[in-house]
Amino acid sequence: MSWGQLVPMSHPAQAEGFFSGRSSVDDWFRHRSFAATEQGRVATWLALDTTGKTVGFVALKSIGLVEEQEANSKARRYFSAGESGILIAQMGLVVSMQGQGLGGKLLAQALQKCLESADIAPCRVIVLDAADESLVPFYERFGFRPIGPGQLRMYQSLASVRKAFAAI
Ligand SMILES: CC(C)(COP(=O)(O)OP(=O)(O)OC[C@H]1O[C@@H](n2cnc3c(N)ncnc32)[C@H](O)[C@@H]1OP(=O)(O)O)[C@@H](O)C(=O)NCCC(=O)NCCS
Repeated sequence: MSWGQLVPMSHPAQAEGFFSGRSSVDDWFRHRSFAATEQGRVATWLALDTTGKTVGFVALKSIGLVEEQEANSKARRYFSAGESGILIAQMGLVVSMQGQGLGGKLLAQALQKCLESADIAPCRVIVLDAADESLVPFYERFGFRPIGPGQLRMYQSLASVRKAFAAI
């Protein structure tokens, strides 16, 4: 069982009992996502199953970028003072749905939201911080690259996302 389009979070109860198996993600979603969303600090998008239960979420926000000491020459094109980007601040999928390609679907839907946002208020890059090294290959699979060797901060240009979607 999957979901259709992502919907904006509208009630704190939508985060109750959510379990992706990563406590930092689950704690943030259960206890902080609704307030952060209401305060306009993040946009939290939900994947709801046919019963209306939250099976996945992704939280996006805009960020101002600065120079990153560890960035390689390609990443430096984007990471400099005055540049802004979209941060995939948090994402998670319920444990029972993991490992079936649905995390990829959730990320692709998040990237689509990033494109829509950048069409209205342009920026050039999407950024995320992989929670640990084991997740780097997952994000690489969807076009993200570490800003430098061994780095958990990853990026992908909006231009590259746009190109990937155009090819589908
Ligand atoms: C991260 C998460 C969303 C991934 O979802 P998922 O459903 O397990 O991933 P998918 O099944 O969609 O995987 C998509 C592709 O990435 C690959 N992949 C997934 N996790 C991977 C990993 N840790 N290492 C290497 N490849 C991985 C899969 O093999 C698959 O590739 P394929 O299409 O070639 O088979 C999910 O595991 C989750 O919610 N984890 C807990 C919360 C979390 O860690 N959030 C991220 C914080 S940065």
